[in-house]
Amino acid sequence: MSETLKAIQTPIAEELVHFDKYFKSAMKSDVALLDRITRYLLKRKGKQLRPMLVLFSADICGGITPSTYRGAALVELLHTATLIHDDVVDDADERRGIFSINALWKNKIAVLVGDFLLSRGMLMALEHDDYQLLKIVSRAVKLMSEGELLQMDKARKLNIDEAVYLDIIRQKTASLFVSCCETGATSATDDPQKIQWMRTFGEKLGIAFQIKDDLFDYGQEDVGKPRAIDIKEKKLTLPLIHILNKASWAERRKLINIVKNHNTDRKKVQYLIDYVYAHGGIDYSTQVMYAYLREAEEVLNNFEDSPSKTALLELMQYAVKRKK
Ligand code: IPE
Ligand code: IPE
Ligand code: MG
Ligand code: MG
Repeated sequence: MSETLKAIQTPIAEELVHFDKYFKSAMKSDVALLDRITRYLLKRKGKQLRPMLVLFSADICGGITPSTYRGAALVELLHTATLIHDDVVDDADERRGIFSINALWKNKIAVLVGDFLLSRGMLMALEHDDYQLLKIVSRAVKLMSEGELLQMDKARKLNIDEAVYLDIIRQKTASLFVSCCETGATSATDDPQKIQWMRTFGEKLGIAFQIKDDLFDYGQEDVGKPRAIDIKEKKLTLPLIHILNKASWAERRKLINIVKNHNTDRKKVQYLIDYVYAHGGIDYSTQVMYAYLREAEEVLNNFEDSPSKTALLELMQYAVKRKK
């Protein structure tokens, strides 16, 4: 784990250990194949930003309670399930620096493992009558699937503008960030104002987070998952959308043609990537990302200073400066 992330986790280090127990125990299965796959999954943990958000949100809203841990485990289970499904949808063979589940076990098994993890999360919440938690998280499940489907629809038609792009990432990524913050807040307070602030914070941060993720796709660095895959999947993200808006008719046609008909031609794709860099697509996206980050930061001004608030401010910075 990165040193920065470790430092950010300090105020909730013990709580994260506790969360991990819930998370691991929910993954267990008597079915040998499933057990093998979940053990493979547990070998490579992600950044666990979502459970961190749940715990920090609870802490700044009044304090962590037993249901906070279940919320943290549920969102990470759901997130893991989504990633497994997403790699099927995107036909991606690498995740967290190792083979994706679909690469090793094929799509059919990956779909079922994702379903298993989602259901385990839901059942864990039900066992404790955490209906509020289920309500919050189910909304994210709905929005995430709608977001991914809207994205696929746009990839077929290639008619996406900045507003639609923002709508897609709000649905497919920020919705879960909203749920994390809302879950944490709700587990700690009844104050509707505080809960609403945390929802807004999660949404702004989630949008910035996905813009950063989409920037990785244009990058040179190893981020533990495939790069230039968005173009291959005809996903138009902010750097390219911005450039297409500015380009002349002929240039636009050329770029769209690459995305549409030559998205596996390395030379042509490189031409497109270079074009996006040269015409300020990366810079523009970075600016938009920071604008959302500032909005997130403003929301936190409503809360009293505390170690968890400081950690949330650091986590925000980490979300846009991270290397993977
Ligand atoms: C990846 O999320 C999926 C996106 C929404 C971009 P993370 O980057 O948080 O994935 P892990 O859990 O750390 O691997
Ligand atoms: C995030 O989009 C998808 C989810 C909300 C799961 P991406 O498809 O860009 O995520 P990565 O890059 O595969 O992690
Ligand atoms: Mg993907
Ligand atoms: Mg991505």
